[in-house]
Amino acid sequence: MEADGRSSRLKCESTQTISTHFLDIQTDDIPIIDLSLLHLNSHTRSLVVHQINEACRCKGLFHIINHGIPESVIEGALYTNTEFFELPIEEKEVMCDDIFKPVRSGTVRNASQDGTEFTREFLKLYAHPFDLWVESWPQKPQNYREKMGNYTKEVRRLGLELLGLIMDSLHLESTYMRDNLEHGIHMMGINCYPPCSQANAVMGIAPHSDHSIMTILLQSCPGLHFLDPTDSRWKGVDDIKGSLQVLVGDHLEVLTNGRCKSVIHRAIPSSERTRLSIASLHSLAMDEVVEPAMELVDKEHPKGYKGSTLRDFLSHLSSGNKVPFIQTLKIC
Ligand code: OGA
Ligand code: NI
Repeated sequence: MEADGRSSRLKCESTQTISTHFLDIQTDDIPIIDLSLLHLNSHTRSLVVHQINEACRCKGLFHIINHGIPESVIEGALYTNTEFFELPIEEKEVMCDDIFKPVRSGTVRNASQDGTEFTREFLKLYAHPFDLWVESWPQKPQNYREKMGNYTKEVRRLGLELLGLIMDSLHLESTYMRDNLEHGIHMMGINCYPPCSQANAVMGIAPHSDHSIMTILLQSCPGLHFLDPTDSRWKGVDDIKGSLQVLVGDHLEVLTNGRCKSVIHRAIPSSERTRLSIASLHSLAMDEVVEPAMELVDKEHPKGYKGSTLRDFLSHLSSGNKVPFIQTLKIC
């Protein structure tokens, strides 16, 4: 296993060009990582750790299967959020534009190439400590808090487990940053994309990378695309039954001093059905400075990023600055 990602990084790196044609999108060749292999024997566990290392360095994205979240919990979360977005607007009681608010919902309007308007609705929820935030979550539909609570608790456990594996893959202690993530901000970002006849010309969510350490994504149907750093092409992410997608966030790129690459991604709506996605963003605390781990900085790998906090990211976002946050952190 290669802890030093430098040579492969050079192989993986390339310039980023963004195409706006969605029709000729290739499907992905990102790894499908079977987490049940973790518990088989030490050889299969090492294999998983190695696959995670490769995926985080080269693509910044991977599928996970056999992740241990029961199907009923996943279905419950998708169903209750579908019901939430079907509520009349006046009953979605948390409409708010302030991105620092722990619970808020809203609408984003995009125009297609022929000028047709397309709307994405979203709901953002802080999820940890659960007892602190759940009281502010939507009360409707009935069982919303229970169904979403079940999912957030499961995905939180998974996030902590994945962090341990990523740290292991970098030859850091597997408990490295665990306490920090445990006491950090866990935010659920739920997106609802109504069907759109202009689906091939409309962006559901514009290209971006997530600020988080990592994001675990659940999708009701395909629509996620990522910019593959190995060939600078947009690729559609396959729909593998029962899978979740793990996305490397900006703060993991910083923490690993560039060994892991945060992934640029976007989403497009479906032409036939409403598409729902639930992004689980795992971050450190609001004012905790994330900077490259000392163990990953040396003569050959000088410190490549400035320290920053989640609050810095949110301030950057609300300032309307169009430069991607990660670019503002790079030390040339
Ligand atoms: C996000 C995101 C992708 C999707 O919420 O940050 O990238 O598939 N969502 O909706
Ligand atoms: Ni995202």
